[in-house]
Amino acid sequence: MDDYSPPSPGRLRALFLALAACMALLSGLLGTGDAHAEYGDVVINNYSDAAGMRPVVFPHWFHRIRYRCKVCHADLGFKFKAGGNEINMVKVIDGQFCGACHNGEVAWSVENCNMCHSGKQGTATQVHESTVNSLVQPKGSKP
Ligand code: HEC
Ligand code: HEC
Ligand code: HEC
Repeated sequence: MDDYSPPSPGRLRALFLALAACMALLSGLLGTGDAHAEYGDVVINNYSDAAGMRPVVFPHWFHRIRYRCKVCHADLGFKFKAGGNEINMVKVIDGQFCGACHNGEVAWSVENCNMCHSGKQGTATQVHESTVNSLVQPKGSKP
């Protein structure tokens, strides 16, 4: 009889990335969502560029007017530092960080890659302090 061994985290991750690649392609083709960037947005790009994804643009004020600071910075454990949370997709899908809400119940879920990964490739992790320069990749352009 064969021993049962659960899939390793590495294998799960590889499966996720394969699935994700298909979805990214699909959502690219269908052109989901409008992205905006404004003063105070946080660009999170510890891993995205290296993984061939656009950097994440987190619209801080959009969320701040909807939730108390405590929801994210105490209950969900977000540190007060742009890029300071070592977020990755395994954690998001597992319901941590953005995934605590972007789960299809509180807010739209993770298959909407381009809603979060909306930055211009090559934009470093930062708090956006310009009201003039755009962070967001114009719609319809190649990544
Ligand atoms: C709710 C927001 C959100 C959505 C939706 C989302 N991501 Fe992410 N993703 C993040 C955040 C935040 C990070 C961390 C960014 C960084 O530090 O570079 C990240 C990181 C990544 C990374 C690099 C780290 C890793 O886990 O390998 C990849 C690849 C990635 N996402 C792919 C995807 C794909 C593909 C989709 C759609 C199936 C997707 N993401 C949807 C928020 C999101
Ligand atoms: C929906 C979740 C959420 C809420 C609500 C929220 N934040 Fe944040 N905050 C974040 C995330 C995500 C980051 C970026 C963390 C990262 O890059 O890993 C951040 C970063 C920060 C930073 C560091 C970057 C900067 O702009 O200087 C400060 C300070 C901050 N938040 C303060 C607040 C305050 C004050 C409130 C309430 C008025 C608040 N946040 C509400 C999620 C939230
Ligand atoms: C406490 C819950 C919560 C957390 C945590 C959270 N979001 Fe959201 N987010 C929401 C809600 C609710 C909406 C509005 C959904 C809607 O309009 O249907 C939203 C909308 C958004 C939008 C769209 C803004 C717009 O202009 O329409 C983006 C982009 C986004 N979130 C990114 C993120 C990223 C990236 C993270 C993690 C760094 C994150 N969110 C964490 C609750 C959350």
